[in-house]
Amino acid sequence: MGKVYYVFSREKITARLNQMVASKIIEVILLDLLLFMALSHSLLLVVIRPLDQLRESLIQASDTKDFDLNTIILPQNRKDEFADVADAVQRITRRLCDDLESRKAAELAMRQARDLTETAFKQLNETKNNLVQAEKMASLGGLVAGVAHEVNTPVGVILTSASVLSEETILFKNSLDAGAIKKSEVMRYSEMAIESSRLILANAERAAQLIQSFKQVAVDQTSEARRSFELGEYMDEVIMSLKPTLKRTSVMIEVSCPEKINLDGYPGAISQVITNFLTNALAHAFAEGQIGLISLSATRSDDNVTLSFEDNGGGIPPEHLKKIFDPFFTTKRGSGGSGLGLNVVYNLVTQTLGGSLIVHSELGKGTSFIACFPLIAPQAKESKTS
Ligand SMILES: Nc1ncnc2c1ncn2[C@@H]1O[C@H](COP(=O)(O)OP(=O)(O)O)[C@@H](O)[C@H]1O
Ligand SMILES: [Mg+2]
Repeated sequence: MGKVYYVFSREKITARLNQMVASKIIEVILLDLLLFMALSHSLLLVVIRPLDQLRESLIQASDTKDFDLNTIILPQNRKDEFADVADAVQRITRRLCDDLESRKAAELAMRQARDLTETAFKQLNETKNNLVQAEKMASLGGLVAGVAHEVNTPVGVILTSASVLSEETILFKNSLDAGAIKKSEVMRYSEMAIESSRLILANAERAAQLIQSFKQVAVDQTSEARRSFELGEYMDEVIMSLKPTLKRTSVMIEVSCPEKINLDGYPGAISQVITNFLTNALAHAFAEGQIGLISLSATRSDDNVTLSFEDNGGGIPPEHLKKIFDPFFTTKRGSGGSGLGLNVVYNLVTQTLGGSLIVHSELGKGTSFIACFPLIAPQAKESKTS
């Protein structure tokens, strides 16, 4: 048996080990590099490109003014999470598009409805103005009928007296021509001539006076002219112009204005107010044939005047009382009521005359309207509501 001795050189071993480690490191680095490249490539294919495509599509869609769903091109033919994301984006955008469409349609419908409402409102306003005008004209129509009726009486007396005078004068001339005239005949003729001329003159004066006051009331009613006038006299003129309307009823009217009240303002407004109160009392306050009493009075306190109009008719139920000044409120719709009379009155008293208007009414006892306004009316505004 012998002994074998291995002699190891430490340097050689170290050098050999170092060489092995270096080649392993290079091997690992190369493998890593390969892995990295393969991973990057698949990352590019699987993640980055589709993401890029999605981003591009979304940017393009967001930049397009008229948004169109077809401009969004998303990764197709894929069955992974990206396909789900793309599909979800498609669905969201489609829903957004649908929402947008229906919102646009709703907006259009709203705009059309608003236009329609505006047109309807304008037409309604125009109709209301026409009706207000018609209401004013209706009282003017009554006034014209009044003129014809009132002037008829004195003109009739003038005609009769003039024809009597003419006939008697012819007879008188014939007797004169025949030369057989007695003193008693001359006396009778002259008395008749004096009486006829007196009647003609008095009635012509009455007719002229009536025409003058009707003219004034009619002009006032149709114009908004401002002037100075005495209220008591004016109230008499207005009531006189309404007498024919009253004649057909069993209603009496009392007018009282104990002191002279000089006003500077709009007589037309006052005539409209009185006319409306009176026609309303005749239309609404009294039952057919009922004997009624209306009183119109004016009093002055300091710089204000109080005009009150009362009737002892049926009164206004409390639930109607708060609505009577509203335009179109009427309890006589379909039988002549427009519901504008008291609205016109309210506007005239509160705006044109610059005052206030209140109403009291008790069922079965009657109604009173009290208008209070300054002696000097405010200056007219550019455009009045009535
Ligand atoms: N003097 C009155 N007595 C009873 N009711 C009245 C009187 N005046 C007005 N009314 C009521 O007020 C309503 C509104 O009057 P108004 O505006 O003039 O409209 P209209 O006369 O066209 O009905 C009337 O329909 C009526 O019911
Ligand atoms: Mg009326």
